[in-house]
Amino acid sequence: MYMSTDEIRTAFLKFFESKGHQIVPSSSLVPADDPTLLFTNAGMNQFKDTFLGVEKRDYTRATSAQRCVRAGGKHNDLENVGFTARHHTFFEMLGNFSFGDYFKQDAIQYAWAFLTETIGLPKEKLLVTVYETDDEAFDIWHQQIGVPADRIVRIGDKEGGKPYESDNFWQMGDTGPCGPCSEIFYDHGEHIWGGPPGTPEEDGDRFIEIWNIVFMQFNRQADGTMENLPKPSVDTGMGIERIAAIKQGVHSNYEIDVFQQLIKQVAEIIGVEDLTNQSLRVVADHIRSCAYLIVDGVMPSNEGRGYVLRRIIRRAVRHGNKLGSKEAFFYKLVGPLATIMGTAGEDLRAQQTMVEKVLKIEEDNFGRTLERGMLMLEEALDKVKGDELDGETVFKLYDTYGFPADLTNDVARERGYRIDEAGFEAAMEAQRQRAREAGQFGTDYNQAIKVEHGSDFCGYTGTEGTGQITEIFVDGDTVDSLVSGDKAVVILDHTPFYAEAGGQCGDTGVIDTDQGRFTVTDTQKAGQAIAHYGSLSEGQLSVGAQATARVDAARRHAVAMNHSATHLLHAALREVLGKHIAQKGSLVRPDGLRFDFSHLEPVTADELKAVERIVNQQIRENSPVQTEVMDIEAAKQKGAMALFGEKYDDQVRVLSMGDFSIELCGGTHATRTGDIGMFKIVSEAGIAAGVRRIEAITGQAAIDSVYQQQADYEAKLDEAQSKAKALEKQIQQLKQKLAAQESAGLINQVRELNGVKVLISQLDGADNKALRSMVDDLKNQMGSGIVLLGNVANDKVGLIAGVTKDLTGTVKAGELVNLVAQQVGGKGGGRPDMAQAGGSDVSALPNALASAETWLAEQL
Ligand code: ALA
Repeated sequence: MYMSTDEIRTAFLKFFESKGHQIVPSSSLVPADDPTLLFTNAGMNQFKDTFLGVEKRDYTRATSAQRCVRAGGKHNDLENVGFTARHHTFFEMLGNFSFGDYFKQDAIQYAWAFLTETIGLPKEKLLVTVYETDDEAFDIWHQQIGVPADRIVRIGDKEGGKPYESDNFWQMGDTGPCGPCSEIFYDHGEHIWGGPPGTPEEDGDRFIEIWNIVFMQFNRQADGTMENLPKPSVDTGMGIERIAAIKQGVHSNYEIDVFQQLIKQVAEIIGVEDLTNQSLRVVADHIRSCAYLIVDGVMPSNEGRGYVLRRIIRRAVRHGNKLGSKEAFFYKLVGPLATIMGTAGEDLRAQQTMVEKVLKIEEDNFGRTLERGMLMLEEALDKVKGDELDGETVFKLYDTYGFPADLTNDVARERGYRIDEAGFEAAMEAQRQRAREAGQFGTDYNQAIKVEHGSDFCGYTGTEGTGQITEIFVDGDTVDSLVSGDKAVVILDHTPFYAEAGGQCGDTGVIDTDQGRFTVTDTQKAGQAIAHYGSLSEGQLSVGAQATARVDAARRHAVAMNHSATHLLHAALREVLGKHIAQKGSLVRPDGLRFDFSHLEPVTADELKAVERIVNQQIRENSPVQTEVMDIEAAKQKGAMALFGEKYDDQVRVLSMGDFSIELCGGTHATRTGDIGMFKIVSEAGIAAGVRRIEAITGQAAIDSVYQQQADYEAKLDEAQSKAKALEKQIQQLKQKLAAQESAGLINQVRELNGVKVLISQLDGADNKALRSMVDDLKNQMGSGIVLLGNVANDKVGLIAGVTKDLTGTVKAGELVNLVAQQVGGKGGGRPDMAQAGGSDVSALPNALASAETWLAEQL
């Protein structure tokens, strides 16, 4: 009897509910408080502490349908997905749990009753395993359930393995709850290759494990010893996709209802005919893990869980591309999936729009480089000698085109190549090293200087101050004096130099003593001290000397303007885009500012304009910039914006600009907002999923940028104008050429009317300005005669008549033209030998020209 996946899930939960189990919702894919686990990978994860007796719940029996992800980390099935019948990045595990309540007997009986009675599996198709020494479980299966002894397989520890290293001893990880287990297998039939568990053919696909019943007894310690759990417990797990395959009479999980519906959706969205294409399976699998990871708060990024998510998305996008997709398609599957998942789709339905947005952004970003990356990869593969693609190329694809190594491997494998993983890792490590070095302040300085003295910062009110040199470091070691131009670090007890913090860069300037000058190129915090980095430029410097410290005031001023503008920008963004805007990063330098913030979509040109307007308005408000030190609670009451997740001291510095912006900040600022002068955004872009970056400039730089823009436009305009002129000239020349050609043809249409040469013709699209020279030309060729031309151009009629001098006594060009003009809604006139007119009724022209011929015949 067929059962849908949704029906199986409900039947399972209801069955155990009827046996006194609490139905517990699936927990998040991000395990709570468990740093040992990348993603939730079993139903028992959320009950780990309950098994250990650390957490008490008001029930001792539970059941759940738990969403699980096995990708990245220890259980990485990613690369097999789509190519085998049962590998998935995402699956659901049905389970029942006893926390010190029932044990082996009930657990086995429940499982058997559910399988053979509730969902009606034939008993003779089932086979079970027990841990080698677990006679108790063996006896329950054999004597109470009645499974024949030859269908109960004892599985021991692996040969050469440590104790408990067995398929029938389950442990959550290197530490934690564990115990012997008993597994139930289903025989898919003789037509499929494979043998029962414990035989050499066990890896075949005929006998498939469907349910694992773990008799939780121990808490494994880090040293491998087993401590007894407070009470023997039960943890079971059954992959819903496998049981659905059986109940739907299919062998591969990809043939069950959920996947078939998803595969159809993918095929329809991309426009694929062949439903057996393996890439369809990959995409159908991947949308499940990606959608639910985002539901559970994972965002694509370059590290940890976010990077696993990113890799899965990119793999899906690549397979979509292989299927012929030319645009973002993956996000379109979220809606169908939310429906297809039935009772397990609730969380997804609630967050559908957000999930779609995150996926679309990620897809669009990667889609742009995918094709170029593929091109490079194809070229590299063409050049491979042997069967291995070098690690440098794999790294370059990662670094330049965002190809995760497993994606490159995927493509390489399809073409029969391997990738040099060790080489790739080495290149990655080299890059990490470079990043570490670049992140430090020059490798010549030893960052690990141990400063004993603290420094007072006196630079909020000025850029000059006096202090005593308390310590000098060269290459990380303290020295008493500095005599050569070596790079060094100088500590003063008082200093106006601002040490880099809160995104604001460190100050530069000079430190003078009676004996010499030290030039400061950067300032950093070193514990409680402010460390001046630089080198001796004159004389010498000694510990204990009095010094005058002078910050490069112009540079500091520019930095302060940019810092104040950053606060205004932050507040303006919240006003224009919404209160969800949170600062994700900031960099304040003399030449500009950079502000990163959370926002899902690109900021539109109109929004940017609105933000710029508001900031400039605030600048014109010329509000005083005020600071106040208060305790953190008071600051929060005041509504000061703080960085989420940042730890603050009890006493904080609150910086406000009128009522418009109130933020916690330790930086240096303008005195009044008007000092900023002007604010101009120069760029806006996404830097990660859900994070945007705005770069902007202020003051003179902003004004200069407007001049520069104007100059650029003027230059472009000049260029366009001279190009247009040149083209016009060319057109003119071409038109004349054309007219000459046409008049050459017209001469053949000359007929004789009462012995006079007459030419009457209608032209299409000739240039009215060229008509005159055309008529002159024709008159010359005819020697003696009458010419009448009607030209239709731009829905208007142009008329021209020419009469050679010898005939003007008989027929006047003006009269001839007028005769026609009147019939086409115009009038005209001119000299007897040459006259022009215009008209608007194009359709009347042929008849009008014919009537002119009749009239001429009368005149001649
Ligand atoms: N926790 C057990 C498993 O994952 C049931 O197999």
